[in-house]
Amino acid sequence: MLGLGILETTAYTPVYFMHKYWARRPWKVFSKIIQVFTEPGDIILDPFAGGGTTLIEGLILRRKVVAVDLNPLACMVMKKEVEPLNIYAYREVFNQLKTQLEPLAWELYGTKCPECGSKTMVRYIRRYLADDRPFLAFIYCKSCNSKIFLESGLEEFEKVPDIPPKWYPVVQIPEGDTTNRLIQKGFRYFHELISPRSLIMLSHIRDAITQIQDDKIRDFMMFTFSSMLEWSSKMSKHLKGGETKLMDWTLNTYWVAKDYTENNLWEVFCRRVDKVIRGKTYTNSKIGSYAKEASDFSQLQKDASYMVVQADSRDLSFIPDESVDAVITDPPYGDIIQYAELSDFYLVWLGLSAPKTEISINSTRRIGLREYEDGLYQVFRECFRVLKHGGHLISTFNIGDMNVMAAFVLALRRAGFKYVDVLRQPVYNYKISFHVEQKDPMPYDFVFVFKKSDEPEPKPKLSFVELLSSLDKKIKEYVNNGKRKSEYRLDTYPQVIQYISSAPFEIARKFAKKYESMIREYSSEFNRNKMEHLEKKKGKKKVQRTLLSNL
Ligand SMILES: C[S@@+](CC[C@H](N)C(=O)[O-])C[C@H]1O[C@@H](n2cnc3c(N)ncnc32)[C@H](O)[C@@H]1O
Ligand SMILES: [Zn+2]
Repeated sequence: MLGLGILETTAYTPVYFMHKYWARRPWKVFSKIIQVFTEPGDIILDPFAGGGTTLIEGLILRRKVVAVDLNPLACMVMKKEVEPLNIYAYREVFNQLKTQLEPLAWELYGTKCPECGSKTMVRYIRRYLADDRPFLAFIYCKSCNSKIFLESGLEEFEKVPDIPPKWYPVVQIPEGDTTNRLIQKGFRYFHELISPRSLIMLSHIRDAITQIQDDKIRDFMMFTFSSMLEWSSKMSKHLKGGETKLMDWTLNTYWVAKDYTENNLWEVFCRRVDKVIRGKTYTNSKIGSYAKEASDFSQLQKDASYMVVQADSRDLSFIPDESVDAVITDPPYGDIIQYAELSDFYLVWLGLSAPKTEISINSTRRIGLREYEDGLYQVFRECFRVLKHGGHLISTFNIGDMNVMAAFVLALRRAGFKYVDVLRQPVYNYKISFHVEQKDPMPYDFVFVFKKSDEPEPKPKLSFVELLSSLDKKIKEYVNNGKRKSEYRLDTYPQVIQYISSAPFEIARKFAKKYESMIREYSSEFNRNKMEHLEKKKGKKKVQRTLLSNL
C-alpha cells in the first residue's frame, strides 16, 4: 500500500496567481506525488499538462519534465510560469508603458472625488447588460481615503469618450457546448463580451505592448495582458453591492448575468503586473536557472530540464520508447470543462484558436463516453510505450459519475497498465463555501496509481453479485441515516474502483452503469438529506437558490 498521507491543501503559491487556467490542481498533492514516485534527475511526463502543476513542482524538486498539452493557451501559460525573468528589466518596461498609457486611463476613468473634489479614477462601474446603462460607480479616493458608492449622478459614465480603439480581434464565436450559452443570449463575436470603454483600454495596452523592442519582455507583457482578460469582460460581476464580492470569470463556462462590472482596466493591468512580479520572484528563487528548455528529447538526457510541447498526446513520437521514469497527470474529466472552447476568449487576442480535437465529452462535437474512453486510451497507450518498465503512472481523477471514472480506468487497462491502488486526498479541508456545498460536491480527489509491469492484473475481491448486494445494503443505510450522495460515493468509490480495475472490461462497464442507476433510484432521498444538511447549517434561513440557477 502506497501512502501519501493526508496533505493539507494550502493556498496556491504566487506562481499560480499569474494567469488563469481552469481546474488547477492542489500543488501540494502533486509535489508529494513527485517526491514519493521519483528521484531528482528523473524524467516525468505529463500528457495533459494544463496549468502546469506537474511542470512547476517537478522543476522545483529538480526533476526533468515533459509537459504536453494540445491547447496553445496552456502552453503559453506553462512556458511563462517556468521561464526565468529579469524582473528589473520587466519593471523598467512597465514604467515606460505607464508614461505612455496613463493619460488615456485618465480620459477613460478620470472623475472628481465627491468628498474632497480632487481628481481621481473610478475603480469600477456596474452596468445593466441589456443597455449598458450604469447603476453604480465605485470610487476610491487616495487623497481623502474615502470609498464612495455612487448610485446617482452617473451621467458622466453613460457616454464613452470619443477615442478610437486600436486593433482588437473580430472573431465569430463558434458553436460549442459552452459557447452556445453565449450564442443563445445573442452574442455573435467574442469582442461583444467586452464593453466599448474596455475595448479602448485593452486595445491600446495591447498595441503599446506590441511595440516593445525586447522579445522576451514583450512576450512576458503579452502574457500579462492575456492574464487581465479574465477581469475585462461582461462575465465580471459583483455579487451584491460591496467592494469585495467581485466575481471574475470564475465559473468554468461562458455565462453572463443581468448586470456586469466594468473594471478600470488600467488599474487591473497594474495589478496583473504586480502578480507577475510576485510569481516570477517566486519561481526565479525556487527554479531559477535550473529551468532550461530542451528543443528535443535527447537534450533532456543532458543539461536541459524541461519541454513544453503543444501537441496531441495521442502521438508522442518525439519521445523514445522506455525513456520516461514516471507519468504524472490529471486528464480532462468527462464533460466538466471544455478547455478548448473557453480558451478561445483569450487566444483570439493572440491571433490563435484552440484545436477542437481535445479529449472531452462534448455533444456539439458528438464525442460521447465511448469516444472519450478511446481518446484517453490512445494517450495512455503512448504513455505506456514511453514509460520505463516497472514505472508508475499516477493520475488524479474525480467525478460524480462512475461511468466516466470507469472510462478512465478502462482506458488505462486497455493500454496495458496494471492497477496498484487508489488514494483519497481531501481537496477542501478548509471551510467550503455554502454555495459549493449546495452542489453536494465530493471534497476528495482520487489519486490513482497504475504500473507498467508483467504482474498479472489483480482479481476482484468480490463477485459482481456480492458487491452489488453489499452496495445495495449500504445505500439503504446511508439514505436512512440522513447521509448525502457525496458521502455514499466517497465511501464506496474505492471498492467500486477496485472492482472496475480488475473485472473483465465489459462487465466493469456494466457495473459502473448499475452503480449509477442505483444512486439515481435514491435521488429524492439523497436530495432530502442534502436539504436537511443545508438547513441545519444555515439555521432557519431559507436555503438560497444556487448561483448557477440565478444566471
Ligand atoms: C484537467 S486539465 C489539466 C489540469 C492540470 N493538471 C493543472 O493543474 O492545471 C486537462 C488538459 O488536457 C488537455 N488535453 C485534452 N486533450 C488532449 C490531448 N489529446 N492531448 C494533449 N492535451 C490534451 C486540455 O487542453 C487540458 O489543458
Ligand atoms: Zn477624495
